[in-house]
Amino acid sequence: MVAENIVECHVLVIGSGGAGTRAAIEAARYGDVVIMSRSVAGKGGCTPMAEGGFNAVMNPEDCSTLHAEDTLRGGAYLNDPELVDVLVSEAPERMKDLVNWGAVFDLTPEKKLAQRPFGGQRFNRTCYAGDRTGHEMMMTLIEHLRVENISILHEISAIELLKSGGKVCGAAGLDRNGNLVLIKADAVVLATGGAAQVYEVNTNCATGNGQGFALAYRAGAELIDMEMVQFHPTGAVHPYDARGRLITEAVRGEGGLLMNKDGERFMERYDPERKELSTRDIVSRSIATEILEGRGTGKGGVYLDVSHLDDRYIEEKLPLMLEQFLNFGVDIRKEPMEVAPTAHHFMGGVRIDTNGATTVDGLFACGEVTGGIHGANRLGGNSLADTQVFGKRAGESAGKSPVAEKEIDPVQVEAIRARLDGYLAGEKSPAEVRKQLKEIMWESAGIYRTEKGLKKALSGIVDLVGEKLKAKGRENLIDCCTVADMITTALLVVRGSILRPESRGANTRTDLDPCIKPEESPYGHTFQSLEKSGIEKAEGN
Ligand code: FUM
Repeated sequence: MVAENIVECHVLVIGSGGAGTRAAIEAARYGDVVIMSRSVAGKGGCTPMAEGGFNAVMNPEDCSTLHAEDTLRGGAYLNDPELVDVLVSEAPERMKDLVNWGAVFDLTPEKKLAQRPFGGQRFNRTCYAGDRTGHEMMMTLIEHLRVENISILHEISAIELLKSGGKVCGAAGLDRNGNLVLIKADAVVLATGGAAQVYEVNTNCATGNGQGFALAYRAGAELIDMEMVQFHPTGAVHPYDARGRLITEAVRGEGGLLMNKDGERFMERYDPERKELSTRDIVSRSIATEILEGRGTGKGGVYLDVSHLDDRYIEEKLPLMLEQFLNFGVDIRKEPMEVAPTAHHFMGGVRIDTNGATTVDGLFACGEVTGGIHGANRLGGNSLADTQVFGKRAGESAGKSPVAEKEIDPVQVEAIRARLDGYLAGEKSPAEVRKQLKEIMWESAGIYRTEKGLKKALSGIVDLVGEKLKAKGRENLIDCCTVADMITTALLVVRGSILRPESRGANTRTDLDPCIKPEESPYGHTFQSLEKSGIEKAEGN
């Protein structure tokens, strides 16, 4: 007996957001599935917070080639074209799955799925449920889990992937009281989402802290393009407690205009053709530049205005935004919102193939924890599609894994216990370290970066690695594990950015010549694992 609680299953899915639940539904066709969820499944994760929509070619006048071209151009041609091909060709079927399972999306008067314009796309391709699309999807997926062969372990946080003979064979987790739980599995699907919580201002739920990147890295997996962090152009700037909260791209999709303090519609200068519906990297940089050059509002943002739209239209298409801003004391039917960029999404992550297999045997991954699909900048609406397309694929591949005798390595479990005991005897509050980390990342690894700033960030984060984190009791062990994972993730971001000597997509280096066209870049993915790191050459170079 190496631990108090040992659970056994065919497939373990870590994460209960859109990707994890979709993977579990598929894997359950092949054997018993356990979902390990840090929150109460369905209530946590970033999917329920996703507002604007799900990109899928549903109109005969649109086509998947166009969707792929938009995705590649938006991603500054760093995307893996095979993954993009899978995304765009399977998104319509995955959208139909959700509708068949009962999801209620907005319809046109002809009772077809309504689709709104989103940035960087040449067709209205974004299916939606008002401005609560992710919530509608998540409720549907959770309902569907109940009709499948799936158990959910709520409020158990994964702290390490278990390995035996080079193969991932399960995971160790902590329950709310800090008790160790071990899960043995024939295959593990990592669906833990992103890590925008490593930044001071972000859109993410409390669990968007990079756990999956760190788990995969420690298990020997290769991660790519970790420097590619998306800053959503429009986050709330006030009240202070709501800083960073997502103001959906649907606001601009439905006709919202961005203005500086002088009333100038400034996107006409930065991207005269696409204006507010340019790609997120460009809109975020433009807003940041307006603010930095003194044309921002008193509260440190720019204006986002829908007051020229019909009141009824706003009430119908943007009900959450209306309610949220009324709570902030702003009636968006009559006055503009104030917004500024906020850390939102990780384009980089665990390297996968088209079946969701990582570079480590027994480990599959899907959703935001993976890299390669969205390149250097993700199109809004492609993420919800990604969760369903690659969730299904990763779940199926994991489900098809051979059933074998499952062994846990007692030496690895003892090392985990020793690490936890170390936290009980530690010195430094994890909350304090987390605050410092977020400040470093916001200051030096944000929208605009320089080599000097990145090296300063690196040395600051390395200092934090040296801190002896302290858990006041077993129930606080998870805080130490989480902060340690955030530190690992932040290191991967900063090192990735140092590895990439170019401005591309979300990685903007103000100290470098900005003139390389992304399609002519000599560089491919940055890669980092326990064994190696570097930057690939672009294909064909
Ligand atoms: O703006 C939004 O509604 C976010 C969508 C996304 O990140 O895909």
